[in-house]
Amino acid sequence: MDSRIKTVVSGITPSGNMLHIGNYFGAIKPHLELQNEVEYAYYFIADLHALTTVKDKAVLENNIKNVILDYLALGLDPEKVVFFRQSQVESHSELAVILANYISYGQMQRMHAFKDKLQDGEVVENINMGLFNYPILMAADILLYKPYGVPVGEDQRQHIELARDIAENFNRIYNTEFFPLPIPMIDKKKEISKVVGTDGVRKMSKSLGNVIGIFDDEEVIRKQIMSCFTDPTRIKATDPGKVEGNPVFIFHDLLNDNLEEVQDLKDRYTKGEVGDVEVKEKLSNAHLRFFKDARAKRIILERDMELVMSILMNGKEKATNKSKETIDNIKEIIGLSTSI
Ligand code: TYM
Repeated sequence: MDSRIKTVVSGITPSGNMLHIGNYFGAIKPHLELQNEVEYAYYFIADLHALTTVKDKAVLENNIKNVILDYLALGLDPEKVVFFRQSQVESHSELAVILANYISYGQMQRMHAFKDKLQDGEVVENINMGLFNYPILMAADILLYKPYGVPVGEDQRQHIELARDIAENFNRIYNTEFFPLPIPMIDKKKEISKVVGTDGVRKMSKSLGNVIGIFDDEEVIRKQIMSCFTDPTRIKATDPGKVEGNPVFIFHDLLNDNLEEVQDLKDRYTKGEVGDVEVKEKLSNAHLRFFKDARAKRIILERDMELVMSILMNGKEKATNKSKETIDNIKEIIGLSTSI
């Protein structure tokens, strides 16, 4: 590992009620690896960000609880990580208000999330300002902890670039090197940085309904896997099929620890000697093996919400202390620190 890495920061938005394997391979797995390697890891639930899409109190509360449990069950170690809820650390909102002054409207208009909405046919007048400002809040999330890097999936790259631009503008205007420019830490393999959905075409994403979950009921996961697209040119099981770029085999490579079985399935698939059902059944079993321990741990955690709450309180305190320090320094630099 790069010995310069002291601090990393990352977040997950509880816009859905459960994480999927795209979140896991693109973000959570690297987060868990980094927690053992860096001096400071700040990981949080971006609950303020979820407000752009979730406007139902009960749904939001449920999503937040589930994503927290998922994250902990997957192996986040609260001894090594500062783990907290964004909305409980007030400096995030405060810094977002400040940073909005160091980026232009024109640049904000070029952000994907906003442009995608327009492309989906949304009228610009109806786009909520939370969505438009989203990348500024995200820049605040990051810059508060002055990290070396931000481990995320490919879809977040543009947001980190914006955080860099804001940091650069700030440093230039005040003639300071206060903000280090955060590096997007994104896996070089595209099968990992942008895990494809079960449709085999688009990025796996809750809002597109093309996910394979992690903690859903076994039957739900089996159905998600059974609905997976394979080689679209293959009509019968006896037709030779293509393995490369085939989502079912991408998932086997990610999840199946039985490498001989994967090789055997690939060989037979290429020759037209195995049906999709067998390939998917084995993928389903591999998924259950892969997440067996995490699924068991989640059940135990869910019975001990007091422990979970104390982890979050502890994280809130540590994140508040660190981020207050940054805010105080920023106020000093920009001229908001005097008491008169
Ligand atoms: P979110 O909640 O959409 O996704 C959480 C993480 O999962 C990654 N990810 C994927 N990676 C690979 N393949 C996929 N199909 C896939 N789908 C999701 C995302 O890239 C992300 O790393 N805006 C962020 C949350 C956020 C944040 C931050 C992240 C708020 N503030 C500050 C980093 C730093 C988001 O909505 O991620």
